Amino acid sequence: MNTEVTPEKVSVIASEPDPVLGYRSFQFGEFKFTRDAYFVHISWPKGVHTMEVDRFLRAMVRDIGWGFFYGWIFFDDVFGTQNHYGTVDIYAGTYSKGHKETGVDYLETYNTDDVRVAFETISKDWINEGYDPLSAPLETGSPLGAKQQEASGPLIRGFEPARRMLGLAGDVQPRSDETGHPINRAFADLDYDLPDIEAEPGFEDQIHAINLFDHIARADVTWNPSFTSITRACICCVTSEEHMLPVIHGNDRNEWFIQLTDEIHWNIQDKNSGNPRGRIVMKSGDICAMPADIRHQGYSPKRSMLMVLENGTPGLEEKYATGELEPFPITASRW
Ligand SMILES: [Fe+2]
Repeated sequence: MNTEVTPEKVSVIASEPDPVLGYRSFQFGEFKFTRDAYFVHISWPKGVHTMEVDRFLRAMVRDIGWGFFYGWIFFDDVFGTQNHYGTVDIYAGTYSKGHKETGVDYLETYNTDDVRVAFETISKDWINEGYDPLSAPLETGSPLGAKQQEASGPLIRGFEPARRMLGLAGDVQPRSDETGHPINRAFADLDYDLPDIEAEPGFEDQIHAINLFDHIARADVTWNPSFTSITRACICCVTSEEHMLPVIHGNDRNEWFIQLTDEIHWNIQDKNSGNPRGRIVMKSGDICAMPADIRHQGYSPKRSMLMVLENGTPGLEEKYATGELEPFPITASRW
C-alpha cells in the first residue's frame, strides 16, 4: 500500500516513569509501547504482542539508523515497519497469516520524520548505559532489568557515504588503531597487507588503495553498514555480522550478497505469509541474489564479512510490486 496523501502529524506521548522499574510507556498513533525488565509489550486497538526487549531494541535502533531501509523491517514475525520513502507504515500482524485470518492485524501510516522521532524517544528512554544494541551480544552489556542511567552515546552510527577513494585527502580516513578502532577479535588471524600504489608523477593525490578487510575488521557494530559507497543508484555496503540479523528484512527489490569471509545461514520466507521458501548457507566467496518478494533473516555463528549491493533507483519498488519486473534478476528460461 503506497500512500499518496500526506498523513496528519503524529507526536509520541510519554507517560510518567513507572514507579518500580523507571521506564516510561509511550503512545504513538493507536500503538502503545511499554517495557518491563524482560519484555516489550505492543498493543493496538485489536490486539497485543510481546517480544524480548533485546530483540526489540536491536531492531528499533537499526530501523532508525537505516532510515527504515528498503521495504519491510520485521522486528519479529508480527511487528514491524514498511518504508514508502516519505511515509512509513507501522504494522502488527499484517504479514502474519494467523493474525490476518483471525482479523487482529493492524496498520497505520505516518510521516517518516514522526516515526523517527517516536522511535528515538522510545529508544533513549529504554536503553541504559553499558548496553549498545548495535554491538554483538558478546561485546556489550545486558538490556534487562530496571532503568538505571540512560545511555549517553549516540543511538545510531549513521551511513557514511564515500565521496572520494577512502583515504585520499578530503575524504574520511580508514579506521586504524590510532582512531580507536582495533581489529575485532574474530579477525585477528587475517593478513592485512597493504596494496602497492604506483601513481604516475603528478597523480599521487588522485589514486589510492586500501585493504578493505582491514577496514571492515575494525567495525565496532554488527549488521550495520561499516562503510557505504553510493554511485548514483548503485549502493554498496560492507558490513561485519555476528549473531543474528536483528530484524527480518522484507525486500522490495533484489539484493545481492557477496560473502567475503566465514559463513551466514539464511532463513528465507514468503514476504506476505511468512511461509518457508528456502535455506541458504553462504560460505566465503559465495554470491547470492535475494529476490524482491521474500523476507529473510541471517545467522552468523562467528563474526563474518558481507558485501551487500542494492539498486536504489526511486520507484523501483513499484515496478516489483505491480509485477512489471519479475522478482528475480535473472530467470532460468532466459539463459
Ligand atoms: Fe534484504
